[in-house]
Amino acid sequence: MKKIALIFGVTGQDGAYLSKLLLKKNYIVHGVKRRSSSFNTERIDDIYNDLHNKTNFYLHYGDLTDSLSVLKIIKKINPNEIYNLGAQSHVGVSFEVPEYTANVDALGTLRILDSILTLGMKDRVKFYQAGTSEMFGASKPPQNEKTNFYPRSPYAAAKLYAHWITVNYREGYNIFACNGILFNHESPLRGETFVTKKIVSALCKISLLGKGKLYLGNLYSKRDWGHAQDYVVAMWKMLQQKKPKDYVIASGKQYSVKYFVNLICHILKIKINWKGKGINEKAYLNGKVIISIDKKYFRPTEVDSLLGDSRKARKELKWKPDYNIQSLAKDMVTQEIKNINGKK
Ligand code: NAP
Ligand code: GDD
Repeated sequence: MKKIALIFGVTGQDGAYLSKLLLKKNYIVHGVKRRSSSFNTERIDDIYNDLHNKTNFYLHYGDLTDSLSVLKIIKKINPNEIYNLGAQSHVGVSFEVPEYTANVDALGTLRILDSILTLGMKDRVKFYQAGTSEMFGASKPPQNEKTNFYPRSPYAAAKLYAHWITVNYREGYNIFACNGILFNHESPLRGETFVTKKIVSALCKISLLGKGKLYLGNLYSKRDWGHAQDYVVAMWKMLQQKKPKDYVIASGKQYSVKYFVNLICHILKIKINWKGKGINEKAYLNGKVIISIDKKYFRPTEVDSLLGDSRKARKELKWKPDYNIQSLAKDMVTQEIKNINGKK
């Protein structure tokens, strides 16, 4: 019998990679998408076929803020595995819409867990919760499963609720529920407003088309960046273990935003010069300013330094990433160039 997976957040970066991974593993995959006034299935259009064209991939309308839809979809699909990747996932935006972020990211998780319980499905379903290194926030690096949480945004605080409610339903009701505490992971499918994708898109346009300018916030925060394709493998592996546990997933290497800018310039073979300090820092290409700082991209509270220690996952899940920062950056640039050339 084929296993059935249900993915909340199927239209996002990770949802697309996870769907492809599970289909390759011969699962039947069901995804929940939100109603939107414009198309929001671009990342999964290559695998999505409607009812006229049968495949093992199905989409359903639903929303994590709508308990009824969550309960009804879980009942109808009767899955073996549920992956909760759905979230308002932008840290900066969470300061603008804190209540909505809490509703989706915190209570959305509770809605899924309680539906599993209410429907009497706890012995059938395994549950994965998309936790985040943002929960470590201001805690000193390196961070692992034993590090204290210290959230620094409404997003991180909401995800912390989701983390603990997942632990609570595991301990209280014996649900097979795991928290993946994933550090930043990127890809060509990354949302346009996250810093790596924003840098790659702008610098490729500047390099290929000779137009555009990039405005950034804090150049000096450090992140532990991996490739989404590697990280969805870890999600799946967590649900294949004998016991449900929580795992940190990370590359174990840390780079600043400015390092990432310089790396992309190096790949594109463009030579920039940095001048100035603080909000007056700028990057020049052939004497012209191509990067400036805009205060609006600073956050009220910043997470300065994330660096993951994923030894537990590497030992118990036998997980290790194929990509490093260089191959990740190259993949993002190669795809971006294809996109630009396709549109020309
Ligand atoms: P993403 O690209 O922003 O995708 C988020 C997904 O959630 C999208 O499918 C989005 O739908 C959906 N969603 C948003 N609000 C929803 C709602 N009210 N009801 C149902 N679905 C909703 O995020 P990602 O990078 O793939 O990340 C996947 C998960 O991992 C998220 O929970 C994120 O917080 C977490 N995480 C990500 C990282 C990372 O570095 N990428 C690291 C740690 C944890 P639309 O397409 O319609 O917007
Ligand atoms: N988005 C953005 N835009 N970030 C900028 C910019 C900018 O113009 N300029 C500097 N930054 C800095 C941010 O202040 C932050 O320190 C860093 O770049 C990374 O920002 P994001 O790419 O937005 O990612 P994030 O680290 O805040 O959050 C991502 O990773 C988390 C895991 O640690 C998201 O994917 C979260 O959903 C995820 O949980």
